[in-house]
Parts: sequence; structure tokens; C-alpha cells
Amino acid sequence: MRSVQFTAYGPPAVVHVTEAPEPHAGPGEIRVAVRASGVAPGEVAIRSGRLREVVPVVLPFRTGFDAAGVVDEVGAGVTGVHPGDEVFGAADPARRGANADFAVLTAWAPKPVEWSWEEAGGAAGAAETATRVLDRLAVVPGQTVLVQGAAGGTGAVAVQFAVARGATVIGTASEHNHDFLRSLGVVPATYGPGLVGRVRALAPAGVDAVLDCAGGALPDLVALAGDPARVVTIADFTARAHGVHLSHGAPAAEVGAGDPLAWHGLADAVALAGEGRLRVPVAAAFPMDEVAAAHELVETRHARGKVVLVP
Ligand SMILES: NC(=O)c1ccc[n+]([C@@H]2O[C@H](COP(=O)([O-])OP(=O)(O)OC[C@H]3O[C@@H](n4cnc5c(N)ncnc54)[C@H](OP(=O)(O)O)[C@@H]3O)[C@@H](O)[C@H]2O)c1
Repeated sequence: MRSVQFTAYGPPAVVHVTEAPEPHAGPGEIRVAVRASGVAPGEVAIRSGRLREVVPVVLPFRTGFDAAGVVDEVGAGVTGVHPGDEVFGAADPARRGANADFAVLTAWAPKPVEWSWEEAGGAAGAAETATRVLDRLAVVPGQTVLVQGAAGGTGAVAVQFAVARGATVIGTASEHNHDFLRSLGVVPATYGPGLVGRVRALAPAGVDAVLDCAGGALPDLVALAGDPARVVTIADFTARAHGVHLSHGAPAAEVGAGDPLAWHGLADAVALAGEGRLRVPVAAAFPMDEVAAAHELVETRHARGKVVLVP
């Protein structure tokens, strides 16, 4: 089968399609024939080599965390899903390899009929991350939540989860994305110098919680929240210096290595999609062979929504 990998750190050109042995579903796992899979900004950063000190990986690195497809193998002990079912989900974070013709998933949910394959392919990581962080921030109805970097693949899903929890959501993006944010139920603001004043003008009573999907602005975000404990970042490795929690997901077996992966977010996503309250904006879908171009787009940091690969 075809699988995406990189064998050395470097520019987008180092990521390529290779022939690889087909994986098989082990106990508690399923295998899907992949119809679409997400391109993860974290993996793009790993490929560039700039994270080699903080996130060391073994090369060659098979990319791809989330995917959607048609089930064709069901591992021992798995119930409630059958060959032929359409699902979306994610691979074991330690094994990855979802940017491929076949992917083994360790977490999944039925693909909402409301979503295209492209939407479903990039949904699981964003739904898990949004749920993990909003759970940690204990967002409840009536609160005001600020999402920094709200128009990206993770932010655009997180804002919808926060709106669904009954929060008023302020989201930051470049001005040309403000109508897009409004379409998601978000009050838009522009990031960059002057952020504190702009957000205070929109929320004179202050913000109750901040989800940072961008990095680089923690002092402003802490000032807006009034307490570093009310800020969680998924993107800023300087978090500790600001007293802020950097959330990354860890499998249940790796207690202490991160926050427990919030896979219950997939069922929540299915329910919200069924109510027409969650879509997964897709910036672009590239054929798998054009994965280097997909990495280039993600690397701009200006994709509106998820970048996905299709067969
Ligand atoms: N720790 C975790 O568990 C976890 C999980 C998922 C993602 N992440 C990380 O979280 C980050 C966001 O992921 P993503 O999927 O949303 O990425 P993405 O899709 O690449 O984000 C692109 C968005 O970032 C915005 N942006 C660019 N520069 C910005 C800045 N200086 N301030 C605020 N917003 C800015 C852009 O807005 P405009 O185009 O409107 O300017 C664009 O909409 C990445 O670093 C990723 O690696 C971490």
C-alpha cells in the first residue's frame, strides 16, 4: 500500500509517498480503507526538524494521526462496528501512519452523514483536542471564552465546541477570516499588538477562559484571563515560564506524560454534527501524491481549517 513518510528532517520536499506493508488491526483496533486523512501541523513542525529537541522521533516517520474511511478489519474484542461501516477516528499517537491507503485506528466513531469524507478525515484530532482543553478549562454556559488562532484546523472546531457548551466565544484571526468566524458563531478579533485592548472592548467584564491555538502571545492572554490557570495553550512551548499549562494528549497507559486523550469528544462531535452544530472547515484536499504541497500550505500557518489528503 501507499504510505506517507519522511526519512530525514527538512523542507516539505522531504515528505513523500512510499510503498509500505499493510498494517492489521490488533486487539481493540480497527482497520479502515482510508478515504481522507488529516495533515497535522504538529507533524509538519516535526518534519522541519525545529522540534527535534522537544519531540524526538524515530526516522523514517510515518505521518498521519486522524483519518476517515470504510472499516475492513475488526480486531479481537471490538464490538459495535463491522466491515463496511463508515467511520472517522485516529491512530495510536505513537504509531501514526494514517496518511496511507489503510490505517489502523485505536479511537473512532461513526462518520456523520452530514460530513464529507474530507471533513471527516481531519475531524478526530481537532475534536479530541478541543474536548480535552475545554474539559480542563471547565467551560460552562454563560462564560466568555477567548480562542487565539480561531480560524485554523483546531481553532475552527474548538470554537464550535465552546459555542455548543453555551459560551460566548471571541476568536482571533486575520481580518479576512472574520466573516468566516462569524459564520461559526464567534465574535471576531484581530490578533497581534493591541490584542488586550481589542478583546477588553468586546468583553468589558473580562474573559473566563483562554484556549491558545497559536502561541507567541501568552503574556497578553494571561492578562486577559487575569490568571494563568485560566489559560491553556496547545501551541506554545514557553508555557511553563508564564505559569500556563501546555496541553498535549497522552494515551491512558502513559499517565503523567500528558493530559488523558479526550476520545469522548468524538461521540460529542457526532451528536453536534447531527444537530447541524459542528462542521469541519477544510482549507484544501490534496491527493496523497501531493503531500509536500499540503505540508507547504500548513507551514504558511494561514490555512483556514484543516488540510487533508485524499487517495
Ligand atoms: N498540543 C496538542 O494537543 C495539539 C493538538 C492540535 C494542534 N496543536 C498545535 O496547535 C497549533 C494550531 O493547530 P491548527 O491545526 O489550528 O493549526 P493551523 O490550522 O495551521 O492554524 C492556522 C491558523 O493560525 C492562525 N495564526 C497564524 N499565526 C497566528 C498568530 N500569530 N496568532 C494567532 N493566530 C495565528 C491563522 O489565522 P489567520 O490565517 O486568520 O491569520 C490560521 O487560521 C499548531 O501549532 C499545532 O501543532 C497541538
